[in-house]
Amino acid sequence: MKNKSLVISRHLIIVFSLVYALLRFIETADFSFFVITNCMFLCIILTLMPGAIENSKNSSNVLGKKPEYKNPDINVYIKELDETKEELNKKNMEMTKFFDEIQYGYLQTVMSLANSIEAMDAYTGGHCQRVMEISCEVARALGLTEGEIEDLRYAAILHDIGKIGISPNILNKNGKLTDEEYNEIKKHPEIAYNILKDVKFLKKGLDGILQHHERYDGKGYPNGLKGNDISIFGRIMCVADAFDAMTSDRTYRKGMKVEDAMNELERCKGSQFDPDIVDLFVGLMSSDEDGSLVEDCYSDNTFKNSSF
Ligand SMILES: [Fe+2]
Repeated sequence: MKNKSLVISRHLIIVFSLVYALLRFIETADFSFFVITNCMFLCIILTLMPGAIENSKNSSNVLGKKPEYKNPDINVYIKELDETKEELNKKNMEMTKFFDEIQYGYLQTVMSLANSIEAMDAYTGGHCQRVMEISCEVARALGLTEGEIEDLRYAAILHDIGKIGISPNILNKNGKLTDEEYNEIKKHPEIAYNILKDVKFLKKGLDGILQHHERYDGKGYPNGLKGNDISIFGRIMCVADAFDAMTSDRTYRKGMKVEDAMNELERCKGSQFDPDIVDLFVGLMSSDEDGSLVEDCYSDNTFKNSSF
């Protein structure tokens, strides 16, 4: 009641001030007009302030302390709801942790398979892992989703699993391969496809595995696909695989310098490689001054604590 009369008096003051200011202005536009106008604004602020303070109190009530209702049943019900919410949050966190562990288990299984290739083919030590890391980084720069990157990760680590079906004598041969031997090696993408095609969580990456030796100009294998008919995973892995193969040491030759390998990628873009992916990879490499390109692959995913 007291507040109400205060508000009414302030309104009255404003009205009187307005009328007086108007009369004075009509009579003579002197300095007192400005003083009165300022007083009028002050009154307006004083009138609005209590409402603003009240609103602010309500807001902090909503954000902080929970309101108490007169009906005790409502308070009990709200408390039960809060407890259920807390319980659900806890379960959700447990499920997320459980899901991460399953994913990690999948990757460990896949890593074991990849290691079996490297056990047969001595010079490829670490090749599958590096192809995976480079592929993931390129995919991230291309704006692929986290789900797609996960599928690519599995595909890239297993891209050469088909070599398990190739004779170690051919794989480890020093010197030039005969046409027959080369044709044998060319079977490895299809062998990989057939080994993995029934594994559900690898299905989305299968095309990439099958197509990682296809060429942008259609002269690759096994199916001679061309341009964007090759899946994005296949085009990414093709660049990552070639780059790592060029820069790795072999028993019969020393690996190329990074700079020379980049020049080779540039030279073959549009023929062997997707030019957009080469440009993006070259850009990534040239901005990677501290050499952390590969490490960054694990910067924001579930496997950052893995040992490989
Ligand atoms: Fe391969």
